[in-house]
Amino acid sequence: MNDKFVLTFDNALRDAITLAGNYASISESSGAENQQQTNEVFSEKWEKYSSADELEKFYQFQRDWYLALYGFEDEAALKAHLANCTVILDAGCGLGYKAAWFASLAPHALVIGIDYSAAARQASEMFAEHDNLVFLRGDIGSTPFKTGAVDYVSCDQVIMHTEDPDATFAELSRITEPDGGQFACYFYTKKALPRELLDDYFRLHCKEVSTEQLWEMSEQLTELGKRLSELNTEIDVPEIPLMGIKGGKMDIQRFIYWNFLKCFWNPELGHDTSLVTNFDWYSPSNARRFSEAEVRALVSANSMEIEFFRMEEAAYSGRFVHG
Ligand SMILES: C[S@@+](CC[C@H](N)C(=O)[O-])C[C@H]1O[C@@H](n2cnc3c(N)ncnc32)[C@H](O)[C@@H]1O
Repeated sequence: MNDKFVLTFDNALRDAITLAGNYASISESSGAENQQQTNEVFSEKWEKYSSADELEKFYQFQRDWYLALYGFEDEAALKAHLANCTVILDAGCGLGYKAAWFASLAPHALVIGIDYSAAARQASEMFAEHDNLVFLRGDIGSTPFKTGAVDYVSCDQVIMHTEDPDATFAELSRITEPDGGQFACYFYTKKALPRELLDDYFRLHCKEVSTEQLWEMSEQLTELGKRLSELNTEIDVPEIPLMGIKGGKMDIQRFIYWNFLKCFWNPELGHDTSLVTNFDWYSPSNARRFSEAEVRALVSANSMEIEFFRMEEAAYSGRFVHG
């Protein structure tokens, strides 16, 4: 990192952190059992996925989806937004490809990626060429930054995996710059009742099984999704409101997926990406789902306002600003 960015980094911190190149570890383990288990399975997931052939296709899919999730018309619109930022945070950066994307779009700004899993170090090695990008290993529920130090906080597909998502939201809101800074965040929605019950019950069971077994089960779920999808069969589902089951014509794989069992299969993304998507669902112990009212209440509880809000079947996402 060049001197300008070292200074920006130091100024953003409450307590000094010594970087070794573009990386520092603040904390590697959690005293909370579920967070620790969550960190371990994500370390495992990213380690395995980082050598997949489909990685670039996945990154491109994720970048396109990111623009839609947070209301940027295209990449140029995101770039224009980041042009006003000095410090950008990718909170829960995983392999760091979004942090690297922000770093390329905003070469004038310092971008920090932080993740509690071992992926933070992997990211620092994979994206070492950017002189405005650093990675930290640590908990986004308790960051080292000063209040209001970050102009754009991005917490994409992460908050539900933290030990206390409400407290994490408050922390990320605290560090968001109060005068025009934005905090982009993604939340899992609640799905149909049978799927919610099975997910919760099964996640408890997953804590007790080995990662080998979790991969094996994810492989089986992927195969199930593939076989159901290859049936190419649509059914006309009667609405069952008390169970949250929506009516209408639906592919049989989608019907089972949304209402009963995560058996993800996407032939365009490929086998390995479908596999890690299934692994990613049942393996982490921390995976809170939200109602829309809960998301809106969380935003107002932190004295923030909604700049942009989007609902998808599986997610709420938005950009929030201080009121
Ligand atoms: C589904 S992945 C999303 C990664 C990345 N944002 C992306 O969009 O590809 C969730 C990530 O959140 C990280 N994570 C979970 N709890 C965390 C915490 N308390 N602090 C920092 N990272 C956390 C996991 O290690 C994992 O890499």
